[in-house]
Formats: sequence, structure tokens, C-alpha cells
Amino acid sequence: MDGPSGSGKSSASRGVARALGLRYLDTGAMYRAVTWWVLDQGIDLADAETIAARATEPVLEMSTDPENSGVTIDGIDVNGPIREATVTGAVSAVAAVPEVRAHLVALQRELIAGTPEGMVVEGRDIGTVVAPHAPVKIYLTASAEARARRRNAELSGSTVEAQVADMARRDTLDSTRKADPLTMAADAVEVDTTELGLDEVIAEILRLVKERA
Ligand code: C5P
Repeated sequence: MDGPSGSGKSSASRGVARALGLRYLDTGAMYRAVTWWVLDQGIDLADAETIAARATEPVLEMSTDPENSGVTIDGIDVNGPIREATVTGAVSAVAAVPEVRAHLVALQRELIAGTPEGMVVEGRDIGTVVAPHAPVKIYLTASAEARARRRNAELSGSTVEAQVADMARRDTLDSTRKADPLTMAADAVEVDTTELGLDEVIAEILRLVKERA
């Protein structure tokens, strides 16, 4: 499942995984964890060369249980800090470094290969790069306004306008970067969630899974 920020990917993919009894992988949490580590190490975000050279240093461990998904980096539980504004503001720069992507894509493919019963994987490049042979590919979208409202409901202390601006900046960086930009796979089905509640989104995806898998 791919799509821009705030399109409802996390809630929808976790819900679909629960309904189907599958594992769930949040690849955004992996990029966020590496970004947390880069900041923690005091590496300059503009220093792509150092980020590239050290990309494989931290040890990432993912929990793919949809009831208890999360990430640790070098044994540290970073699930709270990776949602903070400092990480959110920095993640697109770190995610644009090709060596970071190569490392995380390899880890993601390993996790997928180790889960033969199947997995719901969410991100920006899952249908195009990580799992091009996935039996079902969903591309979630929603209007900028709806996406900002959802994010605003999740985060306090920020206006809808500030959210629209932040998400637009992140979406532009994510879809214009050279390495694996956010784009819809040719064989993905687009689901526009602007007018849909979470249950309706999950029901529509389960219908597509039944039809296609
Ligand atoms: O999904 P989430 O908003 O947590 O993702 C955070 C950031 O991680 C995205 O804005 C993007 O820069 C990066 N990302 C990516 N590829 C993925 C998942 C996330 O580049 N598969």
C-alpha cells in the first residue's frame, strides 16, 4: 500500500492486516528511525555523503504484529520520538539518500521473504520497488485538506494550514527525489479516501483483495 502522507495508509493497512490475520510492516517507521539516529549522532542533514557512508551502522528491528507494531534501533525503543516534529521535518532528506534506501529496501525484502503467509506493507515505493510482484497493490489518496485534517487530529499544537504546508513540502520532496520517488505503480488500484471513513476504506480494500489475490 502506497500513498502520500495523511492518506490513511497506516490505519487502513493495520486494519486490513488484522482482518486477514496477516503481519503488518510500516516502512515509514524505518525511515523515521534511521532519521532519528542520524539526528542523534549529530550528523548534518545536508551531509548526504556521511549519511550514505553510515547508513548500515544502526541495527533496526521491526515488530510486524499489527497489534503491537514498532521499531527499535540499536535496542532503543524510538516509537515515540520518531513521530515528533524534528524527525518528521528531517525524514524526507534522509529518505532521499540512495544508500539509505538500498539498505532499508533490502531489510524490507528480507522481512517479506520471511513471512510466506503474506504481509500488508505500507510506504511510498512498495508497489514500484520493494514488492513489484505483490498480488494486490493499493494506492491511497485523499484531498490535501482531508489529509491535513487527519494529521491535525493526530497531532496537537499545529493548525490545518501548517499541516497542509508541511505535507505539501514532504510530498514534493518524496515525489521528486531521484531514488525511488513516490509514484503509483502501473498495476495499482487507486482508492480515494477523501469521503470515506476508515471502515469503508478497509472494506473496499478487502473487496479488492478478494477480487485480485
Ligand atoms: O509514512 P510516513 O509518513 O511515516 O513516512 C515518513 C517518510 O519516510 C516519508 O515522508 C518518506 O520520506 C519516507 N518513506 C519513504 N519510503 C517509504 C516509506 C517512507 O521514502 N517506503
